[in-house]
Amino acid sequence: MDLSGKHIVLGLSGGIACYKSAELCRLLVKAGATVQVVMTEAAEQFITPVTMQALSQRPVYRSQWDAREPDNMPHIKLGREADAILIAPCSADFIARLVQGRSDELLSLLCLARPVARVPLLVAPAMNREMWLHPATQRNLAQLAADGAVVLGVGNGPQACGETGDGRMLEPAELLEDLIAHCQPKLLAGQHVLVTAGPTFEAIDPIRGITNHSSGKMGFAVARAAREAGAEVTLVAGPVSLPTPRGVRRVDVQSARQMLDAATAAAPQATVFVATAAVADWRPAAPSAQKIKKDGTGAMPALEFVENTDILQTLAQSERARSGRLFCVGFAAESHDLAAHAKAKRERKGIPLLVGNIGPAAFGQDDNQLLLVDAGGAQPTERASKLALARRLVAEIARRMDIGAAT
Ligand code: CTP
Repeated sequence: MDLSGKHIVLGLSGGIACYKSAELCRLLVKAGATVQVVMTEAAEQFITPVTMQALSQRPVYRSQWDAREPDNMPHIKLGREADAILIAPCSADFIARLVQGRSDELLSLLCLARPVARVPLLVAPAMNREMWLHPATQRNLAQLAADGAVVLGVGNGPQACGETGDGRMLEPAELLEDLIAHCQPKLLAGQHVLVTAGPTFEAIDPIRGITNHSSGKMGFAVARAAREAGAEVTLVAGPVSLPTPRGVRRVDVQSARQMLDAATAAAPQATVFVATAAVADWRPAAPSAQKIKKDGTGAMPALEFVENTDILQTLAQSERARSGRLFCVGFAAESHDLAAHAKAKRERKGIPLLVGNIGPAAFGQDDNQLLLVDAGGAQPTERASKLALARRLVAEIARRMDIGAAT
């Protein structure tokens, strides 16, 4: 599980978004974390400690005078035990308190007392849009970030007050993803990763076309893992209905030609290209502008095909790749003789690393097994979730590029 062995202090300050913190707590526990909830007096106006205790399975801390600790110093113990402190929701007032180093109640006190170098502080702001936009809040947020806190974003949309705009707390699943990302080593910091993912759709006429079974899951997992590792990520996605990983720039395309155009446009900024897409090898030579109708004789329409440009090969042969500024990784889905086909394909495409897998065992699944093929030979991975394999692949890429001292 993504947060196994992690101990998270979940702090709640006052705000209507406290109702989402119950779900967040549940998700953190489900992801393997132990969660210690700390609530301010204002937070208790919105949700009860009973709810948070039931979900975290630990008594909630509410006061700096809590006598449970033998030395009566919960502000010291709670911070030192934590792998991270997450304040969600973090109100405008609580942000101001953190900036000023106030310490007259337990939550701000324990944030001030935390070992800054070892225990990260993440804050998920939540407030009315005018409060969010106010220069005082923006000034405080900038100062909080300068003081070493990780200021997470806010959502945009209808607010409990009836207004619409920026300032909603991120959804629990988004906060979970951000926290998990924060815990990953920043192996690709400073890199720009371009990923192609999913199938392509090659039109026969306005109604029909040719596509394949690729779900896009592996490519989306690679995009997420690269983002978690600190890279800027551009994801060129064929027709799939998967949610965009947090912080990833997504370009949706349909056909192989559109995918080529989008990848070529992004390539000049990229330092890594991972081609996971199952690009159609051929497209109908002349798609019909109108729906092709049966003529009643049983005759088949005559379809001619032309070969699509190989996106991976095109970028692998670019000046950028040949001068070592673009590290290219290909994928190969095979049905048999995986090692032999993967080795031959890596050489044919002229790329440093090719990832082989057995197509029918991978398409649409949440887990997979990979064969990493480079100039030194072939190395199988364990069978694991696509996200775990994507993180492994990111580490393999960073190692081969000789970058990314783990943090
Ligand atoms: N690829 C690409 N553009 C294409 C075709 C493939 O970028 N027009 C990339 C895929 O994203 C993948 C790799 O090339 O990274 C797959 O290579 P390919 O030779 O197309 O694999 P197969 O389709 O499996 O080849 P074959 O039909 O020869 O087995």
